[in-house]
Amino acid sequence: MNPNPTAPIGFFDSGIGGLSVWRAVAALLPRENTVYFADSANCPYGNKPIDEIIALALRHTRALLDAGCKLIVVACNTATAGAIDTLRATLPEVPFVGMEPAVKPASLHSRTGVVGVLATEGTFHGRLYRETCARFARETTVLMCVADDFVSLVERGETSGERAEQIVRQRVEPLLDAGADYLVLGCTHFPFLAPLIRKIAAGRAEVLDPAPAVARQVERLLRRRGLLNPSDDAPSHLFRSSRPTPAFRAKVAELSGKLD
Ligand code: DGL
Repeated sequence: MNPNPTAPIGFFDSGIGGLSVWRAVAALLPRENTVYFADSANCPYGNKPIDEIIALALRHTRALLDAGCKLIVVACNTATAGAIDTLRATLPEVPFVGMEPAVKPASLHSRTGVVGVLATEGTFHGRLYRETCARFARETTVLMCVADDFVSLVERGETSGERAEQIVRQRVEPLLDAGADYLVLGCTHFPFLAPLIRKIAAGRAEVLDPAPAVARQVERLLRRRGLLNPSDDAPSHLFRSSRPTPAFRAKVAELSGKLD
């Protein structure tokens, strides 16, 4: 791990999704350099066996460390659920920040006592999800919705239009009908569908994206370790992909970065 405060923050995800986390970190910490890796060639991660997720997560982490990163953001709920314990145990000197489904704030604020979580199968099977529910949502009914088809929509760049709305509606309506007044986005791809989800849930449920909280955790960890970038130079942002898709290129261009 690179101990230099000017070193970049590394991010990885199965594809475009982690850019929703990158966006929040870049907004909160505009001086930081970043390297983002999208494993589009292996997307989706959502229903892969845990051994495969661990092997992929270790490989991407090592590549980001070789690229000189000072901290790794596991910008993928599925990879966090499956691999973050192994990453931390294997590379104890590396600061990691993972994704946590926002079940705690959702159940704290829910008036109906019902919250909906949209995520992948792998995330629901993880220890973190089970423990978060057991600790913070004991009094809450937590409805789980596996929404793997949302990942495909985002990877295709299809985040609006009639077909996307129909697919999102099919998943979201049953949660609203069951009384959910908070919808938790438990997969980093889903914030790119948030405008559609908010439109469908308008007046019935709030939509929670954990990315801003994750960005604050990145800041806390960097500050604690004296790793915040003090430089006033314009930051460098590198975006890599194991298979750069048109939708990935378009999203990177929209976020005004450079493809490496
Ligand atoms: N973006 C990822 C997540 O947060 C993975 C989605 C997938 O590849 O299935 O879970």
